[in-house]
Order: sequence, then structure tokens, then C-alpha cells
Amino acid sequence: MSVPAILLEDVGFGWAEGRLALQGCHLRVPQGEFWMLLGANGSGKSTLLKLLAGLITPTQGRVALAGAVGLVLQNPDHQVIMPSVGADVAFGLADLPPVLWAGQVEQALRLVGLWELHQRPVYALSGGQKQRLAIAGALARQVPVLLLDEPTAFLDPAQQLELAQQVQNLVRSTGITALWVTHRLEELSYCDQAVLLAGGRITQQGTGAQLQRYIHQHHLDTQVAWNEAPA
Ligand SMILES: Nc1ncnc2c1ncn2[C@@H]1O[C@H](COP(=O)(O)OP(=O)(O)OP(=O)(O)O)[C@@H](O)[C@H]1O
Ligand SMILES: [Mg+2]
Repeated sequence: MSVPAILLEDVGFGWAEGRLALQGCHLRVPQGEFWMLLGANGSGKSTLLKLLAGLITPTQGRVALAGAVGLVLQNPDHQVIMPSVGADVAFGLADLPPVLWAGQVEQALRLVGLWELHQRPVYALSGGQKQRLAIAGALARQVPVLLLDEPTAFLDPAQQLELAQQVQNLVRSTGITALWVTHRLEELSYCDQAVLLAGGRITQQGTGAQLQRYIHQHHLDTQVAWNEAPA
């Protein structure tokens, strides 16, 4: 079996003594695939992404990644830093030789369809464009793994599906691996595989269509009460 881009082996994590936010988690995401992670509020989705991003370390088990990760968060206003589109992407490259900046900024902005706007002030972008800018920041750093924690939470339905489609295209064209957290079932049709977290455990894995069917059949609310659902 080839080396996966994301590997969790029997991973557990507790924020507080005696209470595990994640337990017994096994996950194997092959390189070049677009996966989604679903679960109720408090089921452990963000904790899992924080483990993958190296912001916290597991109290149990093993995490392995193909390389550095790019992290895209819910609120686009919390991750764009510089005044213009191009400067924002270049900012993330400060530790690379300056001779590389221009080329990598242009390539990353082209990949997310923002190159034409590279001189535009960031405040003039839509929410969806700001999320694409955050993704460009990660692409410019050429990370092999992209983690997105409810990147569509602040977007309207049209921009939401557009972003999901764009990440699907990016994964196909660049070979990057993406793990996308969502509450929104309609986004599932863009992923290769999806997993369901309930009470800190991965309880289901399948295609987007299989997960959609499972969630409907079990009358799981996409916002609440999944933790009570049978595995
Ligand atoms: N910084 C923290 N300190 C203490 N407990 C935390 C912290 N972050 C999360 N938790 C707890 O860990 C559990 C999982 O939370 P997490 O944020 O990972 O869930 P989530 O699935 O991302 O939820 P949501 O859908 O609301 O974003 C919850 O019980 C939560 O209260
Ligand atoms: Mg969360």
C-alpha cells in the first residue's frame, strides 16, 4: 500500500483530564484525494484538524503526514493579513528566498482563479474570494496537505458549492490532498471519501453519497444529536 498523505493510528486526545475529545481514531487518506469530515457540534472535528496541524499532540496513538500542512479556517477575516491580494500570499513566503516569491504567488493565485485580482485590496473581496486567497497562501508554500475547518461557514449557498468544486478541481489538477470539515450535507457530492465523527470516534466511512444516505436513514440532524446516534 502506498504511503498515505494523512495517517491516524489509534489516536486519542483529551483537552481535560479523564475526558477524551478523540479516541481510537484510525484514518488513512491517500495522496491526491479530497476527503470530508462530518459530525455534530463538539464531536471532535476541529480537535482532529488541530492534531493534524501540529497545534496539539495526541495523548495516545500516532499521527503521520506527507509533509507540512496548510490550514484554512471558518472566518476568512481571521486569516487574511496584508492589504492586497498579492501581498497577502507573499507574506506567507517570508522564509523563502525573495527570488521565488513572485513566481509562486502568481502560480498560486492562478490556481484559485484570483490572479486577475492580485492588486485588489483584500477588503474588496467577497467571503468566497477571501477563502480562495487563504487557500492560495497554502498553495504558494507548496504544502502537500490542505486542512479546511468549515471553510464555507460564512459563505452563501452559491459561494459554498463553488468553493467545494474549486477545491475538488485543485486536488485533481495539483495532486494535493485535502481534508475538509463541514456540517453541510450538500457539499458531500464533491469529495472522494467522507468520514463521520461521533463523540470523538470515527463511526462511518464511505463515499459522499453513502454518507449522505446513512445520515438520512438514521435521521441524523446535521447540526445536533449525532453523538447520540448508533454507530
Ligand atoms: N481549547 C479547548 N479547551 C478545552 N476543551 C476543548 C477545547 N476545544 C474543544 N474542546 C472540547 O473538545 C470537544 C470537541 O470539540 P471540537 O471543537 O473539536 O468539536 P467540533 O466537532 O469541531 O465542533 P463544532 O462543530 O462546534 O466546531 C468538545 O467537548 C469541546 O468542548
Ligand atoms: Mg469545529
